[in-house]
Amino acid sequence: MLEIKNLHARIAEDGTEIIRGLNLTVNAGEVAAIMGPNGSGKSTLSYILAGREDYEVTEGDILFNGESILEMDPAERASSGIFLAFQYPMEIPGVATMEFLKVAMNAQRKARGEEPLTVPEFLKRVKDVSATLQMDMNMLKRPLNVGFSGGEKKRAEILQMKLLQPKLCVMDETDSGLDIDALKIVADGVNALRSPDRAIVVITHYQRLLEHIVPDTVHVLYRGQIIKSGDKDLAADLETNGYAGVIGEAA
Ligand SMILES: Nc1ncnc2c1ncn2[C@@H]1O[C@H](COP(=O)(O)OP(=O)(O)OP(=O)(O)O)[C@@H](O)[C@H]1O
Ligand SMILES: [Mg+2]
Repeated sequence: MLEIKNLHARIAEDGTEIIRGLNLTVNAGEVAAIMGPNGSGKSTLSYILAGREDYEVTEGDILFNGESILEMDPAERASSGIFLAFQYPMEIPGVATMEFLKVAMNAQRKARGEEPLTVPEFLKRVKDVSATLQMDMNMLKRPLNVGFSGGEKKRAEILQMKLLQPKLCVMDETDSGLDIDALKIVADGVNALRSPDRAIVVITHYQRLLEHIVPDTVHVLYRGQIIKSGDKDLAADLETNGYAGVIGEAA
């Protein structure tokens, strides 16, 4: 589903190379975890997947279902079924969460050649999904993410994923500020979204999160490259022994 081949990317402004020959394949049905020390390029990778203009791909390719996405703008990527949840979610002042959800869902339907949802249909879907997340509908009248607590942002993120049903979800999780409840929201959300025709990539520092999610594959990102891949045992090993061993092996 997702194939990243020998990707090199740099900061557009000053030319610093951050991603340096990264290879990664994530198959449909898979939950992949990306781990790695601070500053290794994990969030940068998620921005590049989203199509942010601050980064320039200089070499390699990113294929989604066999087709390169490099020439697609962020909106095209989203409507083709790629969903990115960032480490620091964007706040959208002035737009009620509800309104944001409606625009996002209808943009996706339009891209698929489907009619927009009627208001009652839309409301029913949002109500049903927010109930499963124990989210108060009143919160959805507030602007997206503005003043949301960490846990509320996580809920809003999972709500969007459940409504949009993307084919590829990439979630960048903070290593701080996620309390046990938020961890559980993320884990339950990911587990509910597991499906044979969907791939989920979770960027995380948490072995604890991975105990709840149990990834199919674990990849270590270091200095802009995947230096080691394995299964869930790799995450457990990193938790016990740290990154030094894996980095030493790769050097
Ligand atoms: N726009 C930018 N300007 C300057 N430096 C940048 C920019 N974007 C990324 N970097 C640098 O690239 C490196 C990778 O950053 P990135 O945020 O991808 O790391 P990360 O693996 O997500 O780290 P963490 O685990 O702390 O979230 C860091 O050294 C960062 O300072
Ligand atoms: Mg990061």
